[in-house]
Amino acid sequence: MSLGLQVVAIDGPSGSGKSTLAKGLARALGWRHLNTGAMYRAVTLAFLRSAVDLDSAGQVESALASLELRTDAEERVFLGDEDVSAEIRGPDVEALVSAVSAIPAVRSRLVELQREEARNGPLVAEGRDMTSVVFPDARWRFYLDASVRERAARRKGDFDKAGRDEALPSVEAELERRDALDSSRAHSPLRLVAGVERIDSTALDAQGVLALVLAKIQEDPA
Ligand code: DC
Repeated sequence: MSLGLQVVAIDGPSGSGKSTLAKGLARALGWRHLNTGAMYRAVTLAFLRSAVDLDSAGQVESALASLELRTDAEERVFLGDEDVSAEIRGPDVEALVSAVSAIPAVRSRLVELQREEARNGPLVAEGRDMTSVVFPDARWRFYLDASVRERAARRKGDFDKAGRDEALPSVEAELERRDALDSSRAHSPLRLVAGVERIDSTALDAQGVLALVLAKIQEDPA
């Protein structure tokens, strides 16, 4: 019997609570947390800084060739030696990240880095294509969902905490825009694939989701 890769793979739309869940699981299991959305955001920031024309395959290739992207155990993201963890959460990156993450060359590069991480030991990996493309053979696979209204309210709460003033309707519209792009792109779209357990977190708080998923993992250990 194959036990599968020592990976908990989590996908879901923006604001569904993937990062909070993945962080909590990683802490509870003593495993590393890989936030692949942060990796796509960091590439987007690097492209913005060097004004890469996304329609130019040559410019994309050379920007990827010089990319020095690294994440650490404290969940920080670096470009070279610079900690860009805060900057990748800003509106400029947010507006462009779906377009950058739809580029096949970007995805192949990041998928390579993500699989390399899994070779360094057990991992809780979250994103949009963890269960479908990057780790289809993960031992545990979950799709975390919630209503768009609830996701927008959570995202607005994050923005408020970060001192970013955004009205709820515009947060909701931005989420819907990104959901549509992330689910309709040709390459590795966000989707619920067969064999992956869908968890609806609309009516649950973060602790409730964590307890539910931990129980499922413990019911079915490696
Ligand atoms: O999870 P997040 O909102 O930080 O992700 C930012 C963007 O990155 C999201 O709009 C889609 C993209 N993404 C992706 O295409 N594949 C992943 N595995 C993770 C994120």
